[in-house]
Amino acid sequence: MNLAEFIEGSRDQHLAELYDFLRIPSISAKTEHKPDIERGARWVADHLRTAGFKSVEIVPTGLHPLVYAESLEAPGKPTILFYGHYDVQPPEPLELWTSPPFQPTVRDGNLFGRGTADDKGQVHIHVKALESLHKLHGKFPVNIKVLIEGEEEVGSVSLWNYVQSHKEKLQADALLVSDTSMLAKGVPSITYGLRGLNYYQIELTGPIRDLHSGVYGGAVPNPLTILAELFAKLHDKNFRVAIPGFYDNVAKISAAERKALNSLPWKKKDFEKAVGAPGYDGEKGFTIVERLWTRPTLEINGIWGGYIGEGAKTVIPSKAFAKLSTRLVPNQDPRKIAKLVEKHVRKLLPKSVHCKLDVLSSGKPWVAPYHAPIFQKAQAALEKGFGKRAVFIREGGSIPFVTQMHDTFKVPCVLIGFGLPDENAHAPDEHIALENYFGGIKAIAHFYADLATL
Ligand code: BES
Ligand code: MN
Ligand code: MN
Repeated sequence: MNLAEFIEGSRDQHLAELYDFLRIPSISAKTEHKPDIERGARWVADHLRTAGFKSVEIVPTGLHPLVYAESLEAPGKPTILFYGHYDVQPPEPLELWTSPPFQPTVRDGNLFGRGTADDKGQVHIHVKALESLHKLHGKFPVNIKVLIEGEEEVGSVSLWNYVQSHKEKLQADALLVSDTSMLAKGVPSITYGLRGLNYYQIELTGPIRDLHSGVYGGAVPNPLTILAELFAKLHDKNFRVAIPGFYDNVAKISAAERKALNSLPWKKKDFEKAVGAPGYDGEKGFTIVERLWTRPTLEINGIWGGYIGEGAKTVIPSKAFAKLSTRLVPNQDPRKIAKLVEKHVRKLLPKSVHCKLDVLSSGKPWVAPYHAPIFQKAQAALEKGFGKRAVFIREGGSIPFVTQMHDTFKVPCVLIGFGLPDENAHAPDEHIALENYFGGIKAIAHFYADLATL
């Protein structure tokens, strides 16, 4: 039996196994799902053992456990570190799912469920690719280290400590990640840039308790009104972030890169279909692709406070809350940006409210050259899996570990994504195209095999 036959002949088993993984609601943001997170870690550890790894450990951290496995039995061959995450985003709003988030279901060639694209489905692609190689040859073609964490969706906070205290252990010739997207269906893609992310929470407190809005209204500060006024001032009319210094260190992209990015087979029509808004806005002077991949932003992710229940309640809330984030690009420094944001927010707020501002997570942007030979091998492998030449893209999302690794070890980071931009990551009806899942297993198996001659 050859590799293709092995993969093709077990399609149903592969899927059935992925279903099991997807049924575990390993939601890292919610304390009540701690047991599911632990179950998720155990599932990964067990299946890495089945795939052929003899050394597998579940490492407890300050928050959620990570899974580390290694097989260093290919002397003289390169060592590849594969990274992914087994945690998922909360599934709410539940009523907008066509089938329940943790009951994987196939419809129209797509597998639906939370984590199908981000990132369990993509992690499983690697597990199955490696298992296929091990079953066929009785060993792995290269030395492999695997790190699958459970905190990616909440900012990979514990991972940084782990990396710092296990540098030797994680040392590799290259990092391999599948937690990104393809440019479009049928366009295999290698991602060479990600935005960084600072995530903030604001708590405004005015009155010491909620007040009757008739008895007190008109003479007291309303934290919700003040929050709305604050947010209205954070962008200018050209959709630029109106925080002094915010753009100071933004690197200008070269004319050549600009041209390359704008000539990719990226379709505005697909983008607009995926978003479905009545109209579009963005920073003046940049194309949509440039806005998404090369420009920093500030977004409000949630606002709450006061009365939001049924009917009316005349109340002036004591508190108003918001979650916001800044996406960062080279060469913005997350710490510096956090200081600028806090300084400006405090400057804009009136003295009538108290403001608590927390930075919940912070991660640097990442952009790296793709000349190293491993990138040609990645292209060749993708061609084997998808019959098409891969393109090099940047993306707007963030994966804190990629920057950490790149900064720490200065090795090539190869990001091969099998998701699609319209597969509803973080939203209801998340899915992965079965053709990408199976094409992915094939491509990744060829990639690991080919890396033996790197
Ligand atoms: N897989 C995504 C990152 C991603 C998505 C990269 C699409 C490229 C394209 C990852 O799971 C994610 O969602 N990351 C978070 C960051 C984290 C610090 C919460 C993000 O980008 O919001
Ligand atoms: Mn992800
Ligand atoms: Mn995600």
